[in-house]
Amino acid sequence: MVCDDSVFQRIKKLKKKRDAVILVHNYQPGEIHQIADFVGDSLELARLAAKTPAEVIVFCGVHFMAETASILSPDKKVLLPAVNAGCPMADMVTPEALADLKQELPGYAVVTYVNSTAAVKALSDICCTSANAVRVVSSLESNNILFVPDRNLGKYVQSKTGKNFRLWPGYCPVHDGITPAHILECKNSYPQAKVIAHPECRMEVLELADEVLSTGGMVKYCRDKTGVDIIVATDAGMLYRLKKENPSVNFIPASIKATCKDMQMTRLLDVEHSLQEMSGEVKVPEAVRLQAYRAVERMVELG
Ligand code: 13P
Ligand code: SF4
Repeated sequence: MVCDDSVFQRIKKLKKKRDAVILVHNYQPGEIHQIADFVGDSLELARLAAKTPAEVIVFCGVHFMAETASILSPDKKVLLPAVNAGCPMADMVTPEALADLKQELPGYAVVTYVNSTAAVKALSDICCTSANAVRVVSSLESNNILFVPDRNLGKYVQSKTGKNFRLWPGYCPVHDGITPAHILECKNSYPQAKVIAHPECRMEVLELADEVLSTGGMVKYCRDKTGVDIIVATDAGMLYRLKKENPSVNFIPASIKATCKDMQMTRLLDVEHSLQEMSGEVKVPEAVRLQAYRAVERMVELG
């Protein structure tokens, strides 16, 4: 893509004028990485959103990420430049349906993946991300866990902790679409390759992986690698950062169809427009925020 240099300059000026910080998720398009103050996974970005001194947080990611920033930093203005960028998995659970299931399962600790709405977080005991889900569940006294909404991540955490899980039947269409056949096909072409997989993938895929990692974990794992082949089972958008930081490594996407269209929605002009007009604000109503804050803050405090 041809980038207009002046749009970078205009964003830089607006950022200063608005006292804004630009947080960018690892899956975002390459051009958006170029304007980032910080690039990271959901947990890293939530932590940064909680402690930034900036007045305005521009969240280049999807809606639940901006909501999490708003939950943690209610005094800041949180802008989501790609106003329609959602997460289909987050929409697979409603607060009403969760409240009903909680009634049926007294004594279960509700562990909610951050890929969920603020209203669902508000009904939860604690949140987790893919980077800390095993640690979060292990930290709980309860042996009975209601895990919401990702059944694949839940199954993985169940296998690691040995606790009794009730799994919400949600999933990420991007990761769930990666199959063992995709991995085996790549392995056939690159027999020496290591396989790294995101825990939103199905268990059959995770069983073929050398490492199961959050997007931030993938960045760290690849840091000291040179001249090798690595098969990456996650959103193909992840390859931009991995290739940029590790130019001698041959990264192979497990499936080129695994692309999150919501994560790819952000454009430079959206960021400029959002900062210019202060548009795309995401604000969680205070009553919901206070409830959701407990669950998110409990996760952040775990370290
Ligand atoms: P990470 O928390 O690993 O960045 O993943 C977020 C996500 O949406 C994966 O699909
Ligand atoms: Fe949601 Fe999947 Fe996209 Fe992540 S990759 S934002 S879980 S749809």
